Amino acid sequence: MKSVASAPGKIILFGEHFVVYGIKAILCSIDKRITATSQFVDDKIIRIKSSLGESVMDLNSLNNLENVQQKFMKPFFYIAQKAIEGNFVDQGIEIVVESEIPPGVGLGSSSAACVAVTASVNGLFHKLSKDDVMKIAIQAERTVFEQNSGADSSVSTFGGLVSYDLKNGFQDIPSRNDLDFIISNSAQVHDTQDVVRQVRNFKEENKDLFNKLCNEEIDIVNNAITSLKENNLNKLGSLMLKNHDLLKQIGVSTEKIDSLVKEAKKTSHGAKITGAGGGGCIISLVDDFNKKDTLDNLRKISDCFIAKIDYSGLRYT
Ligand code: MEV
Repeated sequence: MKSVASAPGKIILFGEHFVVYGIKAILCSIDKRITATSQFVDDKIIRIKSSLGESVMDLNSLNNLENVQQKFMKPFFYIAQKAIEGNFVDQGIEIVVESEIPPGVGLGSSSAACVAVTASVNGLFHKLSKDDVMKIAIQAERTVFEQNSGADSSVSTFGGLVSYDLKNGFQDIPSRNDLDFIISNSAQVHDTQDVVRQVRNFKEENKDLFNKLCNEEIDIVNNAITSLKENNLNKLGSLMLKNHDLLKQIGVSTEKIDSLVKEAKKTSHGAKITGAGGGGCIISLVDDFNKKDTLDNLRKISDCFIAKIDYSGLRYT
């Protein structure tokens, strides 16, 4: 028996990094997915296969995840260990992870993988509710990235366009905007945890400035929620540019990212970093009239694709 589940990547429209300190963010899942396929195997092992590598652990060493060599595999072993323990079995499992989402560039590939693997592994026993999948996926991600806000795993599980904050979790933004984004990849890979740590240092060293920037972010997010409800793309675009400026001030942009935003700004409604920054991707908000020009221009200097909002989130297939 095979248990298959898939979960979407995400983009953050507003509020990355500030969300770690309790500010509301706006994000959506996108139409690029990670699929996890799990099945029992005869050996008493957990075997994980992905395009990034393969890793195997004996069932009886699962309690010591410090030994996992490839850091990105640790959450998957954690998920397997919880499922095995919770279902009182000692059966080996093979998990195959297949991805349409480029890793390490701010599109939520780690969270989508944790959501898909949680649903797929537990599906071998019984299907978990989306709420339970989300909780386990967040715990799994925290085994390698303690300060993780949980925003990415939440939107990957439930899909759609949402606001998210640490206190209230996520809330749907009640509008069915058919927004089009161009995602443009700087090809500078980052480690989210490192960039989050760098921002924490910035915050400690610039307390007053950081507070001021948090207040500006709160305004941007509130205005963005109104603009989304009104489908005011021009306003949303200019808020994205403002948000990019805040991200520059906290030190998470790069020359390459700024040049992509500058290029996108010429034709789109607006553009900004999405996700942790320190490289990664930018998003540009486009419509049917400026999509082609923006895509043509950005393609000259980066890899790009068009993304739409995914409204389904986690899927069992
Ligand atoms: C990463 O996609 C988003 C950050 O805000 C970190 C987090 O929310 O956990 C940088």
